[in-house]
Parts: sequence; structure tokens; C-alpha cells
Amino acid sequence: MSTETGNVMDIDTVALDEKTNEVVIIDQTLLPGEVKTIRLTSQKQIWDAIYTLQVRGAPAIGVTAGFGIYLAAREIAARSSSFDDFYPEFVKAKEYLDSSRPTAVNLSWALNQMDRVAKACSSRPLPEIVEALHQEAIRIRDEDVNACHKLGEYGLTLVKPGDGLLTHCNAGKLAATRYGMATAPMYLGQEKGYHFHVYCDETRPVLQGARLTAKELMDSGIDTTVICDNMVSSLMKQGKIQAVFVGCDRVAANGDTANKIGTSGVAIIAKYYGVPMYIMAPTSTIDMNTETGSGIRIEQRDPDEVTEMWYKQRMAPEGVGVYNPAFDVTDHDLITAIVTEYGIARAPYTESLKKIMEIKAASQQD
Ligand code: MRU
Repeated sequence: MSTETGNVMDIDTVALDEKTNEVVIIDQTLLPGEVKTIRLTSQKQIWDAIYTLQVRGAPAIGVTAGFGIYLAAREIAARSSSFDDFYPEFVKAKEYLDSSRPTAVNLSWALNQMDRVAKACSSRPLPEIVEALHQEAIRIRDEDVNACHKLGEYGLTLVKPGDGLLTHCNAGKLAATRYGMATAPMYLGQEKGYHFHVYCDETRPVLQGARLTAKELMDSGIDTTVICDNMVSSLMKQGKIQAVFVGCDRVAANGDTANKIGTSGVAIIAKYYGVPMYIMAPTSTIDMNTETGSGIRIEQRDPDEVTEMWYKQRMAPEGVGVYNPAFDVTDHDLITAIVTEYGIARAPYTESLKKIMEIKAASQQD
């Protein structure tokens, strides 16, 4: 796909170039001004692209890691003579990629899926193992595309034409491979003539809402307004928001949900004004091994994102303390429903999420 139109909807967020064996991503640090793809081959390039947010958003990180470990496996296999030679280096590459960001579970989820495939093929010749990893990486990408489409269908049942919708950060097509999570009902509604009005929190400090969500919604022709993060309660008080849709980086077994910093504040305000708060969660973001939100590791990022990034000159005194967590945890009792590709989970989440994961497991055995 080309970058010529400047429309991010024309380009895959993450793709594998099968001819050149490169991972191709939209460089999201350049948006909205420049729509440009970059090509990654080495483990270091892939690690850096995830860490520096050239590719970001939980599902997109998972897909990138899947393609990345496949490329690493090709290289390692080429210089290995047996599985015993190959596997320790494969694990090292997997752990390295996994260290790029801690909060989104999709990263380790995708890498663990790839590891399972490598182990299951251990008795086969190395070229066959590499091909099985290739197929698994593609499957992870396809699972994401299909999950997002289903999220859109379920999400659309929760709203009505003409609604005002709020979203925080970017849980859109740029955070996944195609439709996105929070944006999936918006795109589906657009196709059906629902005429939503979407408000995007700018999402300090990295501005994923202003730079990314607003860009992709406008590129899709959706009626879009950017607001500063501190304007949510003013809009809700005026009755302009009928529902909040956000994504998530990790959902604990009890429904507590880690998402971009500021999400929990939005949820508290939404509860006060009686606006439903929906978490759009492909099951790849549900972590049944983490019991509650307190078990989720929150990434701390560079203080410069708060004091300098985007400003012509520094906007806080040199040497001042800076608190810059990338995510927060929304308590499950602030969440109206968690929408997955296998159905809509409601409280008590410990039971409903377990059920969803059982449905997923059963469907994979069919
Ligand atoms: O730091 P980012 O830009 O990777 O954070 C992204 C988010 O918090 C998204 O809302 C999240 O990944 C949702 S996508 C299911």
C-alpha cells in the first residue's frame, strides 16, 4: 500500500513484506504531519521502534513482535545446525523483544504464542520450524483484524445513530492492524450512516488522541473534535457524550483495566454523569494470570515527554520532579462493560471474563 495519499487508512499499521523480509510500519512519531512507512529488520530496530512509539498500541505491538521474532528466527536458523543450537538463541531474542515495553500484555502474549509453536515443532527440520513461525505470525495478525471487526459489531449494539462518543488515547486502526478497538464501532457506524460525533481527548503527554485518533477519524470522514483532557467533565455535564469507548493494554481477571494514563479519570467522571464506560478488549489483552489491577506493571517514561516534547521551549523549570506513568488502572466497578470478540462481559467480571476465555478456548478446538 502507498503513503502517497497521506491517508493513514490506506496503509497497514504493521505489515510483513514477504519479498524483502522486512517489517513495515507507519512511523507514528511523525503523525499527523507526515505519513511515512519505515522498514525494520534487526531485533534492535524492532525493539527501538516499539520503545520509541514509532509503533504503539497493544495489538500493534503484539503483531510487530510476532513478525519481529519470525525474522529473528530466520536469521538464527540460518546459522544453526540443530534445534538445540537454535532454541536458546530464539529464547534470547524473544526475551529481548519482550523487554521493550512492560504494560501491554499483547507483547508477551504474541511472543509466547511463537515460542509455543517453536517448541511444538522441535523435532522437525529448522526450515520447517521457521515456516511454522511465519504462519503463526500471520495468524496473530489475522486474529487481530478479525477480533477488531467483531468488537465493532458488538460495540455498535451499545449506541444509537447521532450519539456523541468520547475516546481517550488511540485505540484505533493505528493501534492495531485495521479497524482498531475503540474506533471499530465508529467505523462500522460510519458505514451504516450512524453519523456519530466523536470527541478525542488529546491525551497528554504524548498526544495520541490529537495526533493519531483525530487523524485516522478525519481520514475516514468521521465528524471529529479534539478536546484537552481536562474538558471531559464540561462536555459530559452538557450531555454531549452518550458513551465512552477506550482500548486497554491489559485487563486483569477481575476486570481492572490498564490503559493510557488518564483513562481512570475519564471513568470516574463518566460514572458521576451516568455515561457508560466501555472497554474494547480483544481477548489478546485479557490476562487471566493477573488477578487484579495491582498486579499490572505500569511503564514509567522519560520526563522530557512532559516538560519538553511538543514545546518550542521547555515548559517546566530545569530539575523539577516529573511523574510520567504511561498507563493507569481503571477499577472494574467503574466499567459498564468489557467488549471482546467473543461477546460482551459485564460485572461480575471474574465470572464473565472466565466465561469469555472458555468460549475462546472451545472455538479454537473446533
Ligand atoms: O503508549 P501507547 O500509545 O502504546 O498506549 C496505547 C493505549 O493505551 C491504547 O489505548 C491501548 O493500547 C489500546 S489498544 C487495545
